[in-house]
Amino acid sequence: MDAVRLVEVGPRDGLQNEPQALPVEVRVELIARLVDAGLRTLEAGAFVSPRWVPQMQGSDEVIRQLETHPGVTYTALVPNLQGLERALAVGCREVAVFAAASEAFSQRNINCSIAESMARFEPLLAKAKEEGVAVRGYVSCVLGCPFSSEVPRADVVKVARDLYAMGCYEISLGDTVGLGTPGKTRELIRACAAEVPVAALAGHFHDTYGMAVANVMAALEEGVRTFDSSVSGLGGCPYLPGATGNVATEELVYLFDGLGMSTGVNLPALLQAGAFVDAALSRLSASRVAIALRNKAQRSLRPND
Ligand code: HMG
Ligand code: MG
Repeated sequence: MDAVRLVEVGPRDGLQNEPQALPVEVRVELIARLVDAGLRTLEAGAFVSPRWVPQMQGSDEVIRQLETHPGVTYTALVPNLQGLERALAVGCREVAVFAAASEAFSQRNINCSIAESMARFEPLLAKAKEEGVAVRGYVSCVLGCPFSSEVPRADVVKVARDLYAMGCYEISLGDTVGLGTPGKTRELIRACAAEVPVAALAGHFHDTYGMAVANVMAALEEGVRTFDSSVSGLGGCPYLPGATGNVATEELVYLFDGLGMSTGVNLPALLQAGAFVDAALSRLSASRVAIALRNKAQRSLRPND
């Protein structure tokens, strides 16, 4: 049976977009449930600046508390050497760097140009190699950018090729805001596969226009066998109101089961993990509403001075 590898990014890409951070113990339980459901590569957090993405605070504690299992990899985003040091301190054996194919997005997301980000990754990759830590590379905005009208395909190919040449073992092509369509996805994969082996490419599709599963199919037909997805389709994009999350892991498992391709994931157990995180997020949002109402009531009860 042909196999596909799923990289579960919900605990990072999904939760980084929630208005508030989920407590560490809930994040740990979510990841444990996803592992029980059969997921083997899980992005458990991000060692980024807590001022930029407060939702990822506590990633150190989350990863420290995760149980290790043979064949299970917990990975985390790192934007710089400081991030890698934090990942090493909690025992990560894999991390992911992230660059963009759009200058405007690079500036907004990591406060530097594409060239500066690549220069930052050089010492990071050297240190990771020294420590025997695998590094995955993301390219964002591969099929469109919220800040620039067009992202030339040649720019995407260049960043993918450079990250691969620098030592990233896999390049995840990110349709960050979900603007891609199957035809464009197909052309993109062909162009990237001319420079990076297709076995080292992964698809990372967001579902804003409901195209993510169709884009996965297009990439699959071009030979891609690794896909990122998010339990319950968690996520969005802080830079584009209305953008939705990653393609749901549940949808991909259903798709690949139907195609007779193995993912190693048990769909009923995965659905339960999705229900668990959905319930935790609704409790959080209910408590946020309750706090806002209480604050409003307190303000209106305050005597006029
Ligand atoms: P900066 O403000 O330019 O950084 O941010 P700086 O080097 O000037 O440092 C400023 C402060 O941040 C300093 O603290 C540093 O110590 C601290 P201060 O001295 O002011 O107290 N700092 C850090 N703290 C903890 N961990 C670190 C770290 N680095 C610096 N690693 C920086 C530059 C890159 C750090 C910032 O812009 C950042 O953290 N950005 C992250 C943004 C992010 O996480 N975006 C979401 C992920 S990307 C994504 O979702 C796309 C993806 O899913 C694929 C797709 O869909 O396309 C991957
Ligand atoms: Mg993403």
